[in-house]
Amino acid sequence: MRNFVSRMAGELPPSGIRKFFDLLLTMDNVISLGVGEPDFDTPWNISQVAISSIEKGMTMYTSNRGLAELRELLSADLDQRYHTKYCPETEMIVTTGVSEGLDIAVRAVVDPGDEVLVVDPCFVSYQAEVLMAGGRPKTLPCSAQDGFKVTPDVLMESITPKSKVLLLNFPTNPTGGVMGKDDLQAIADIIIDHDLLVISDEVYAELTYDGHHVSTAAIDGLWERTITLNGFSKAYAMTGWRLGYLCAPKEMTDAALKIHQYVMMSAPTASQFAGIEALKNGEEAKNEMIAEYRIRRNLFVKGLNDVGLPCHLPKGAFYAFPSVEGTGLSDEEFAERLLREQHVAVVPGSAFGKNGRGHVRTCYAVDRAKLSEAVRRIGIFVESLHS
Ligand SMILES: Cc1ncc(COP(=O)(O)O)c(C=O)c1O
Repeated sequence: MRNFVSRMAGELPPSGIRKFFDLLLTMDNVISLGVGEPDFDTPWNISQVAISSIEKGMTMYTSNRGLAELRELLSADLDQRYHTKYCPETEMIVTTGVSEGLDIAVRAVVDPGDEVLVVDPCFVSYQAEVLMAGGRPKTLPCSAQDGFKVTPDVLMESITPKSKVLLLNFPTNPTGGVMGKDDLQAIADIIIDHDLLVISDEVYAELTYDGHHVSTAAIDGLWERTITLNGFSKAYAMTGWRLGYLCAPKEMTDAALKIHQYVMMSAPTASQFAGIEALKNGEEAKNEMIAEYRIRRNLFVKGLNDVGLPCHLPKGAFYAFPSVEGTGLSDEEFAERLLREQHVAVVPGSAFGKNGRGHVRTCYAVDRAKLSEAVRRIGIFVESLHS
């Protein structure tokens, strides 16, 4: 029998995160700082509205673009929060999570051979999404010294005549880095001069702890060349609902909508009703969760530094990205031995790109007692390496 697997699927690298979780499943008493999702349940009023939508029999497809009420609320919310204006009828699509938004955005604009600039380290899906669209990922190295931001120098050095898209994600998974208004303004001219399109994944926007999130599309001259992606997974603790949205100027929304129609038809209907409730009555619960993440961030990052793992203060998302270079172990050895010896799961930084080497990603969306216990165990492990 011939090999039926496509060359693209065969060559796609597996996610570097998975193999650790296979090991973890075989162990007891593990504190997992490995998975990037909130530990809170979805606020009950949000779940309740979705349940009652099912009880009322509202279980059909919605329009391809998503429920009109949801798009209208989203449009008003984006305007109020980030000062970006999108027409709900022509410039927005409700998607099945940011994951689908990312896929249809990349496929709507990337032709085979086009280069897509991706921050390194970055979310594990980015390079794969570009490869699946036939594009070529090109990495933009970011470092702890620069707060894991994209600097004008690094951007200039990375652009080539084939560069078409810059894929940004702030606050960043895995580093917690944030680009403020000045940082974005500093790269805006380069983006415009080189006629680049930005795909801006802002799924962690509301998890910005110091100051306010600045949306890429709010920067002068960038709205018309930006596809903004956002969703409900992180801020509202709704990962399992698979609800996100894509916003862009009409011609790009139209292109993405064609792909969305063929691959997804519409986002889950009950989830869209849940999204409406989240926007109407979810603010308080969301703010409480964000306040709790901020407290955990401060406790955890201090704890890591105290036990000898240098860690910059992440300004957003819910990840800390300490350096493990001083331990003499590679990030993979560190993660594997920490899991085997102290039953704490973290992800090696190299799973997020070459520049993640020498770091580990830790997710602090875990309750405070578990976080302190994790710090205690990490301390014992680090100490054991010196004795
Ligand atoms: C940067 C980033 N983008 C997108 C996603 C996926 O989001 P969603 O659950 O909305 O598909 C994640 C999930 O971890 C992420 O970290």
